[in-house]
Amino acid sequence: MTVKQSYSAADIQAWMVAHLAEVLSVDADEIDPSVNLESYGLDSAQAMSMVSQLEKLLGFQPSPLLLWHYPTIESLSQRLAEELEEGTEVKDTGVTRSTNTSSVSNTPVLDLQAEAVLDPTIHPGGAIPVALPITQPKKIFLTGGTGFLGAFIIRELLKQTKAEIYCLVRVANLEEGKVKLQKNLEGYAIWQAEYDARIIPVVGDLSEPLLGLSSTQFQTLAAEIDTIYHSGALLNYVFPYSALKAANVLGTQEVLRLACQVKVKPVHYVSSVAVFEAPFYAGKVVKEDDDFSHWEGIYLGYSQTKWVAEKLVKIASDRGLPVTIHRPPSSLVIAKLVSVTPMTSLT
Ligand SMILES: NC(=O)c1ccc[n+]([C@@H]2O[C@H](COP(=O)([O-])OP(=O)(O)OC[C@H]3O[C@@H](n4cnc5c(N)ncnc54)[C@H](OP(=O)(O)O)[C@@H]3O)[C@@H](O)[C@H]2O)c1
Repeated sequence: MTVKQSYSAADIQAWMVAHLAEVLSVDADEIDPSVNLESYGLDSAQAMSMVSQLEKLLGFQPSPLLLWHYPTIESLSQRLAEELEEGTEVKDTGVTRSTNTSSVSNTPVLDLQAEAVLDPTIHPGGAIPVALPITQPKKIFLTGGTGFLGAFIIRELLKQTKAEIYCLVRVANLEEGKVKLQKNLEGYAIWQAEYDARIIPVVGDLSEPLLGLSSTQFQTLAAEIDTIYHSGALLNYVFPYSALKAANVLGTQEVLRLACQVKVKPVHYVSSVAVFEAPFYAGKVVKEDDDFSHWEGIYLGYSQTKWVAEKLVKIASDRGLPVTIHRPPSSLVIAKLVSVTPMTSLT
């Protein structure tokens, strides 16, 4: 790889504008370098591709975390130009990395076990107990209904039950929520007009306390819902743990709070095989009931949040909450891109 030290911030910015315009199939003058890259709808695969193209251009490996700390083309170009001058990688994680070292080798270790603490007030003991199994739920709460997997969960729940599905949606109002859910189902050729009455948006956000609901709304939902499917999460393979924690970890905690409030509600939690990503499990056969206590060596922020979130679900289960954990394989990403592979068993 040729090391090119002569790029200025303006050179890098021009390259990034051109590259992004190409990826998005738009004219370069439609790209505003001062705007957050996320607002261009750049997904994590495209962001990674940009980082890797930059690596070829600059002759060193920029940390993917740069995109988090310098989210606009303008600020990123400036920082990269400074790095070229210094001949070292960025200091934004508090660690200076030498050129061409592994992007993870010097990353400070985050103690995931210490992160896995469930609010002690979340306990099913004080709530009205539930008789299991719940074969005919009347009202189901679902997170992630506007996502890929969520669409197929909605389809299966509509087919297999007579329940109304209350879907948490990140929108401004109920009308937008309806439209967003319908569009998603249409995108996977699932939508049928008769579904309309049974799909009910709940405007909220996983990353906020009480899921972004008022305490009255939260309490009402807690009293009415019979069972919960928690599929929502921020899937981003570039962002660090700190950026994903609110939605993926704290959001899961709020879902467990909902499950333990007023009456006990069984939780179906969509986890990931990423919980076994630690090198300890490499090459080993892992069974579904096996403990997943090893976290050392999980470096991807997304995987770290899935490990901690599943631990929270496990703690809630140990406290007596009925939970079912589903761990789709990473290959679902490919299914997501090329075809459709719904989960077959949800109950
Ligand atoms: N896809 C895979 O390959 C795969 C593999 C293993 C495990 N999983 C797990 O499966 C679940 C679903 O994945 P997916 O592929 O369906 O992902 P997806 O298509 O990206 O959908 C994610 C869903 O979560 C919602 N969400 C994200 N942040 C939120 C927030 N702050 N508040 C409320 N909702 C929020 C999204 O809402 P918006 O529409 O508002 O963004 C969307 O509905 C996730 O828990 C994921 O970890 C997926």
